[in-house]
Amino acid sequence: MPTATAKKPRVKKPRAKAPTKRNGFWRTAANSDRHELYELAVQEVVSECDFIDKTWRTLRGRLASTLREDFCGTAHASTEWARRRATNTAIGVDLDRSVIHWGEAHHRAHLPESISSRVTILEADVLAVETPAIETIVAMNFSYFIFKERAMLVRYFKRVYESLANDGLFFCDAYGGSEAHSEQEEERHLDGFTYVWDQNQYNPITGDVVNHIHFRFPDGSEMKRAFTYKWRLYSLPEIQDALREAGFARSTIYWEGTDKNGGGNGVFRASTRGEPCAGWIAYIVAEKQSSAKSARSKVLNGKARGGTRKR
Ligand SMILES: C[S@@+](CC[C@H](N)C(=O)[O-])C[C@H]1O[C@@H](n2cnc3c(N)ncnc32)[C@H](O)[C@@H]1O
Repeated sequence: MPTATAKKPRVKKPRAKAPTKRNGFWRTAANSDRHELYELAVQEVVSECDFIDKTWRTLRGRLASTLREDFCGTAHASTEWARRRATNTAIGVDLDRSVIHWGEAHHRAHLPESISSRVTILEADVLAVETPAIETIVAMNFSYFIFKERAMLVRYFKRVYESLANDGLFFCDAYGGSEAHSEQEEERHLDGFTYVWDQNQYNPITGDVVNHIHFRFPDGSEMKRAFTYKWRLYSLPEIQDALREAGFARSTIYWEGTDKNGGGNGVFRASTRGEPCAGWIAYIVAEKQSSAKSARSKVLNGKARGGTRKR
């Protein structure tokens, strides 16, 4: 699950801990790798894949095997997907050759052939990529916010819709809350470095945002603007409208529960009502066909192939 901005209470934020030494050495800007720090600070691919499995069980009564990770970057989630079941296959799609190579060298090169052979990476545009029918497509860490024009967003969602199997599910995430509309920096002290989420610009007229990620180190050095995102901050109803227009039968918001301090508890449930907290992250799950329809089409497919399933 992304942690770029964790769900925040409406009350005062708790003070973060000071950075600590890691494995006997201090991280510095010079000895650190921005992709490694990004994965440590932002990604939670195990809980992301757990969420995908849980949602498949609930909505479809089974687990999925095929996954496409759009905007895959280092393809960390694709790697986790292939690792978790021998029947799983993953396709990662990204435009940037350098990040694809990083993922190859740091993840897939160290995996046994039995796992790495089930991960395929395509250097391609998600708007144009052609893949066989896929059960699960994911677009995490708000990457699709890159499509600032609504028409482009709908075009991307249509491409996802067309690429999914009939009972397929599309998973993406979104962030928001009152603080999402302000220009501010938020620090989180992690294992030997400080992650800085810099909401550098917000234009309320267009909804455009410019966000940077910086990494700061105990010796005072800094990796400034390690990553920059120029996005449109879409609201949940805007995203759901665009999904509907792209053809999805249903989309559901999975809203995070609240812990005893008023922050997020990491448990996401299908919801139609959220609280107006200062910062939140939610999952959106879009169904190409609704559960009842996809169950019926499975039966019909069985019949077409001469299957003996009862209605
Ligand atoms: C925010 S990173 C997301 C990394 C990863 N998916 C995650 O969850 O943290 C966005 C990635 O999208 C890629 N990207 C941007 N536009 C794209 C497009 N049209 N098609 C494919 N990849 C794209 C960038 O190269 C970058 O690696």
